[in-house]
Amino acid sequence: MKPGKFISLEGVDGAGKSTHLDYLAGKIRARGVELVVTREPGGTPLGEKLRALLLNDPMQPDTELLLMYAARAEHVAAVIKPALTRGAWVLSDRFADASYAYQCGGRSIDATRLESLESWTLSGFKPDLTLLFDVSAEVAEARRAQARAADRFEKEQADFFNRVREAYLHRAKSEPGRIRVVDASHSIESIRAELDQIMEAL
Ligand code: TMP
Repeated sequence: MKPGKFISLEGVDGAGKSTHLDYLAGKIRARGVELVVTREPGGTPLGEKLRALLLNDPMQPDTELLLMYAARAEHVAAVIKPALTRGAWVLSDRFADASYAYQCGGRSIDATRLESLESWTLSGFKPDLTLLFDVSAEVAEARRAQARAADRFEKEQADFFNRVREAYLHRAKSEPGRIRVVDASHSIESIRAELDQIMEAL
């Protein structure tokens, strides 16, 4: 059986990822493909418990990074790889690029720590395509203000989100073939048209 495709969605909190995730999921399912929609941190029963800790409990930056990777190791082994092997597609609301952006960019953890965790737990496993929804920290903040109560990350200040955004863009520059930057300040219609093109190419 043809192995499935793995797509991750990234962006600072407030970039509008979730809206676009629903649209993409609809498009993929319309093609009759089995699709697993999942998220990080989370995606497994254990991962969802770790998510609750990560989003609510105060902790050291290294603890945060380690818990993100504990949840990810479980997610990849128990959900993502089995789905891809049986030919399903996987759409994940965030994956490893988020650790690079939030823990290395936002929390200023040295990237060599993340690299060693990545080579240990992922051994080079990456999404086939990553869509990075990019908006300024100001636009993202205005959108977050209209959303639900802020979690531990969403309570961070603008300079944290500026660092997260810069780290995402830096990552996208270093892997242009995998990471597609989508200007998330555009209208929903024009973003959908761009997503249609990207998905056709995939
Ligand atoms: P969400 O609000 O997009 O569901 O993501 C939950 C939060 O977790 C979000 O603020 C970003 C953060 N996060 C990290 O800091 N590192 C990671 O590796 C992941 C996957 C998420």
